[in-house]
Amino acid sequence: MTESGVAVRDLLRDAAGRLSAAGVPSPAVDAELLLADVLGIDRGRLITTGPVDPGAQEAFAAALARRCTREPLQHIIGHAWFGPLELAVGPGVFVPRPETEALLEWALVQARHTSPAIAVDLCSGSGALAIALAHELPNVRVHALELSDEALVWLRRNVSAQPADIADRIIMQQVDVTDRDAVVAAVGASTAGLIVSNPPYIPTGAADGLDPEVREHDPHAALFGGTDGMSVIGPMAAAIAAIARPGAPVAIEHDDTTGDRVAAVLRTTGFDDVAGRTDLAGRPRFVTGRAPVSVDVEGSGS
Ligand SMILES: C[S@@+](CC[C@H](N)C(=O)[O-])C[C@H]1O[C@@H](n2cnc3c(N)ncnc32)[C@H](O)[C@@H]1O
Repeated sequence: MTESGVAVRDLLRDAAGRLSAAGVPSPAVDAELLLADVLGIDRGRLITTGPVDPGAQEAFAAALARRCTREPLQHIIGHAWFGPLELAVGPGVFVPRPETEALLEWALVQARHTSPAIAVDLCSGSGALAIALAHELPNVRVHALELSDEALVWLRRNVSAQPADIADRIIMQQVDVTDRDAVVAAVGASTAGLIVSNPPYIPTGAADGLDPEVREHDPHAALFGGTDGMSVIGPMAAAIAAIARPGAPVAIEHDDTTGDRVAAVLRTTGFDDVAGRTDLAGRPRFVTGRAPVSVDVEGSGS
């Protein structure tokens, strides 16, 4: 340690204690991520970093104070990770969650079999799913549909931060996904070969059980899906049916408690092969299906 520098391990020990006292769920990890951000290094390099100078100590203390108020870590550092992507986030947009990566993985496996030309991400938020699809599927055009003015600002920012060959294939549209006609006007009837959505789905009665980071910082329009969690998913299913090509794979994320309802809605809307799927933690997280392959009057499939 130098005269005014403080060893990384001492700073981290103190910070983790303060975060833990504030009720932060992962205090040690958050302390490391905040300090790494302040120092402008990867978290893995902290172990080999020398004493932290007073200026960086001050910046770290400020970041820590914010996190102790339960401001989301991602708002403080200005970005969130989603698979290999680093996306800008802050007030007005939902912070992408690792749970949604399971849905993305499923969609990518489907795309390898079906080679879609057009994919659609309904309720796009920061653009996590839309941008990831455009990255992983180089021949696919992706419609990113989002209603919120504030979220669209982040979506545009994240898309424009991508290389041109990716950004140019993402079509951002301000659309209410519960409005079937508006969705069809934006995307086209029976055109989409792959459809994903992480819509608002938390039942309003569950608000009290949410962490302060979520309840006080994620936009409520991104979180809540009415009393039963289905106020967006229900009408959105009809819109998806209208834009899907026959046989197109569809995946919709949902609340832990609503998997059966989402599956029922997809079945009654006419989807085939409807199945519940779990996230990386093994919780029911998304439902998948396949748009029906229509049969013409002569009985030949299309
Ligand atoms: C749970 S967030 C998901 C964002 C992003 N897909 C992700 O996985 O990180 C839901 C998003 O749906 C948007 N949204 C809510 N109601 C909508 C509607 N009726 N039409 C379109 N977007 C809507 C919200 O603004 C929010 O950005």
